[in-house]
Amino acid sequence: MAVIDSFGKVYFGFGAISKLGQACAELGIKRPLLATDPDIAEFGYLERAKSSLPAGIEAIEFAELPEHPTVEGVEKTTAAFKAHNCDGFVAIGGGSIIDNCKAATILRGNPGPLRQYAGHPEKVTGPTAPIIAVPTTAGTGAEMTRGGGIHPSHGQREFGIGGSMCQPKIAVCDPELTFTLPPRLTAGTGLDAIGHCIEGYLSPTVNPPVDAIALDGVRRVLSYIERAVNDGYDREARWNMMMAAVQGGMSIHKGLGLAHSLSITFSDSDLHHGALVTLCLPPVIRFVADTVPAKLDRLAEALLVRNGNRVANAIADLSQRVGLPENVHALGYGGNDIEDMAKHTQTCWFNRTSPRQPTLDECRELVLASLG
Ligand SMILES: [Fe+2]
Repeated sequence: MAVIDSFGKVYFGFGAISKLGQACAELGIKRPLLATDPDIAEFGYLERAKSSLPAGIEAIEFAELPEHPTVEGVEKTTAAFKAHNCDGFVAIGGGSIIDNCKAATILRGNPGPLRQYAGHPEKVTGPTAPIIAVPTTAGTGAEMTRGGGIHPSHGQREFGIGGSMCQPKIAVCDPELTFTLPPRLTAGTGLDAIGHCIEGYLSPTVNPPVDAIALDGVRRVLSYIERAVNDGYDREARWNMMMAAVQGGMSIHKGLGLAHSLSITFSDSDLHHGALVTLCLPPVIRFVADTVPAKLDRLAEALLVRNGNRVANAIADLSQRVGLPENVHALGYGGNDIEDMAKHTQTCWFNRTSPRQPTLDECRELVLASLG
């Protein structure tokens, strides 16, 4: 039986940040914790967010989050939330900041350690708090999804947390907030979006409306990512990349696949998630191609290439056009325990919705093909 779920509300467009106050009011939030990192605070986005809040809503700033989401960062966020008697999270930043708040809403009213909730949303029985996501990157889709990845500590592989309580109730998507995103991050996060659209589309979960969204998202990234990388102030490109990110987030509702499993395997590093996903996609697409040939043909149409066999090459070409290296080794990954990587890839939760289940030998081959 198909389950076709709805998504959170999205205020989308230039100037959408001015709707933050309204979003808080809609959710009954009177003391939001504005969670972000020091860089984003410097760009002035916190001030712009605060200036949109009407009298009667008292925001608490918390701009101490690290670049990568860690258990320590989540615990600090939770402590700040409780210390200031906050009643909702406003996550201003990239996927790391939003994921951090997804985890913090669990710990807000449920005992630690956080890891006990990985794969067990049913254990979250205590109170949580609503999240408003204000993305400042375009690609992670975290503003639309229920799940997030948290590192036990810096340099250790992520584990996944999630559940309906973690899904942002409202996303405020203002493309202007991505103008200052540098080219390298524009490329990495933008390609994460195409990874979500492709892996969501290829997942066997039955959800034709989301399939259509995913194919549209693929076309949108293909059409606009190079423009956004080359000129961060290209309004049309930034609008479309932010929309593609939302579409990618919607596509994740069908589940993801092996490229994301591999990215988690390689997440014991500082390397960018979206770049990892993209470099793993070509070997994964070749691996599943014979299992889902009709879907590969539709993807080929979306990518403007002639047949399904060429989809993997098209993704590799696109990633190199926006400045990514050829493979995960060239990106800077230094791990060398292939057996451990193969085992981790095979058991990763994202595989549940892979169109083809790999053996351990096949995982080894996919790891080696991604590493290069
Ligand atoms: Fe991703």
